[in-house]
Amino acid sequence: MSVEETIKALPKLEQHVHIVGSTKPETLLWLIEDSGADLPYESVEDLEQFYRYKDFPHFLNIYSTVNCTITKESHYERLTYEMMQSQAGCNVKHVEAIYSAWDHVGRGLDFSLMVDSINRGIRKATRDFGVTCTIRIDLVRNYGPEVGMKVLDLIEEKSDNIIAIDTGGSEEGFPPAPYKECYDRAREMGLHVVAHQGEGAGTDYIWECLEYLNPERIGHAVAAGEDTELMKTIAAKGIPIECCPVSNIRTGAVKDLSRHPIRSFMDHGIKVSVNSDDPPMFGTTMNNEYIQLHQKLGFTIEELFKISLDAVETSFLCVEEKERLLKQFQMEYARLI
Ligand code: HPA
Ligand code: ZN
Repeated sequence: MSVEETIKALPKLEQHVHIVGSTKPETLLWLIEDSGADLPYESVEDLEQFYRYKDFPHFLNIYSTVNCTITKESHYERLTYEMMQSQAGCNVKHVEAIYSAWDHVGRGLDFSLMVDSINRGIRKATRDFGVTCTIRIDLVRNYGPEVGMKVLDLIEEKSDNIIAIDTGGSEEGFPPAPYKECYDRAREMGLHVVAHQGEGAGTDYIWECLEYLNPERIGHAVAAGEDTELMKTIAAKGIPIECCPVSNIRTGAVKDLSRHPIRSFMDHGIKVSVNSDDPPMFGTTMNNEYIQLHQKLGFTIEELFKISLDAVETSFLCVEEKERLLKQFQMEYARLI
């Protein structure tokens, strides 16, 4: 087996993937048709151009256009099912999927029906491919903390399979501190708390995030690579980082993969996971993320497997599930090498 084939066969756990960001070009064509959206795209080739970004704000703009094509709660079932099908194709055993509820509730879609639709997609994909999935809700920072509280109200009424909250969306100009009450309340509700941070803004927001939000994991955190004190602090607090290497290249958060801070994070004692973020929108998959780390940053199969194990350990699965998965990962790895 070639190194690439072995990497593809490694068992994996995805901690950071957006359901809408997992919309394949052919599925977007279906959404455009089904919703009657006024978009000038008719082929997969057209959409390959559409899925190219000059920077992070431009990516969020395109992401928001895709959101507009989701006009029925039931659309989520297919998006979720296909996301999990692609993940299973990369030997991902468990997914923690991100759903930005207010992107749709703000336009009149029903939260409870969307959660049902997502969970239907999950159940079918688990039955067909064996992969499991839980939901983390992105409060989307640019909507502000008042909307964040409304989303928490919705979760309080219907929490089926929802295990965590997050703040993604725009970063520059939207500091984390105002979300303190939302995070405190989410913790009281028994939810795990994560924050996208240091992707579209600098280290000051990461410091502020640590102080006010006290996240259990940080998404991206690329800016932290410039600040040794910050990396030491993140390590001392035992906060893992969800790295999304190809995403960071596509949005320009990192100039070149050889300059990605993932190794520096690990050298400072921070546990990392490797994730695909918005896979078709960034032309990536979990397999590709791992292969890129091997080809561009010299990660060995052993190091990549260690990242998979750390992703299980720092996941939000219960202790019994973690133990079961760790055993399964070890057995599959033993058969591979
Ligand atoms: N960052 C912030 N918000 C997002 C992203 C991301 O990578 N993907 C979808 N929404
Ligand atoms: Zn993300």
